[in-house]
Amino acid sequence: MLTLGIETSCDETAAAVIKNGKTVISSCVSSSVHLHSKFGGIIPEIASRFHLEYISPVVNKALKKANVPLAKIKLIAVTNTPGLVGSLLVGVSFAKALSFATEIPFIGVNHINAHLFSPFLQQKKFQFPFIGLVVSGGHTSLAYVSDFNKIKIIGRTRDDAAGEAFDKVAKILDLGYPGGPVIDKLSQTINTSPFRFNCARLENTLDFSFSGIKTAVLYQSQKLKNPSKKHKTQIVYAFQKEVIDSLVSKSINACEKFKTNIISVGGGVACNSLLREKLQETGKKKHIKVLFSDPHFCLDNAAMIAMLGYQLYKKGVRSKYTLTAAATSR
Ligand code: KG4
Ligand code: ZN
Repeated sequence: MLTLGIETSCDETAAAVIKNGKTVISSCVSSSVHLHSKFGGIIPEIASRFHLEYISPVVNKALKKANVPLAKIKLIAVTNTPGLVGSLLVGVSFAKALSFATEIPFIGVNHINAHLFSPFLQQKKFQFPFIGLVVSGGHTSLAYVSDFNKIKIIGRTRDDAAGEAFDKVAKILDLGYPGGPVIDKLSQTINTSPFRFNCARLENTLDFSFSGIKTAVLYQSQKLKNPSKKHKTQIVYAFQKEVIDSLVSKSINACEKFKTNIISVGGGVACNSLLREKLQETGKKKHIKVLFSDPHFCLDNAAMIAMLGYQLYKKGVRSKYTLTAAATSR
């Protein structure tokens, strides 16, 4: 059974065709990030206008690349929450119109839940239960996942998302947008730093906090007045080390608390090389299997939407034409 996935929750217009909810036949992504970078963050109106322009070509490209005519598609899965409402609306309206015109059923999918499962796109089979860590530009949460529709949030950020902290720190230091990849790359050029920053650890909970560390970076850079490239590198190195340490220790705590030995990590920050290295290393010591996908499936994509949409459809979940876009889901 072929599923067409559509994703437009933020700045990526994406479409994918997958077979039997698992095998990716095509996955196409068109990003408007270049239009936002000069503003240092996403401008919602620009993002939704980009989606309007690109949704049709991207869907056509995904079908063409898969060599699949629309008539062979048996399900349309679309992100309907959470995200920028104007952006989500483009995908949801497109999917509904396509479904109405072709009589192919459609299903709304939660973007964060799809990130939780994305590493399984490259695994032989799904394994439950697992701890899911979603670390993106808009969300940071830990979940106990016992089935495709049984997802219990067990920890979340109380302020900024991890990716948001990377982006804001890069902005403070004038390093460009998005900040995550720049900070990751710069940090790899050194292996020690005289600076030290702390995240509030919120002991005895699985919640995170990343806004204090961002402010600490701001004060440090103001203290240095015009930080040199060397100082900037040392600052981001120390910042990244602490954020990753917090993510790793809470994820491992979650596994211990919920007696699971699998962690699945999704979202843009899952591309971070230190997170990948440290979580794998700690997981190995604790006999916990750590699942990361290749970077293109960590970032926003439609293959993960098609995968989860298919699995939910198999469970009998259906969406009606009254389905709408919702900026927040929980
Ligand atoms: O999942 P995603 O593509 O979009 C959202 O749903 O938010 O994640 C984008 C976020 C941005 O904040 C970006 O700075 C961060 O992921 N990111 C990274 C890395 N690559 C992307 N953060 C840390 N290290 C990276 N290598
Ligand atoms: Zn995302």
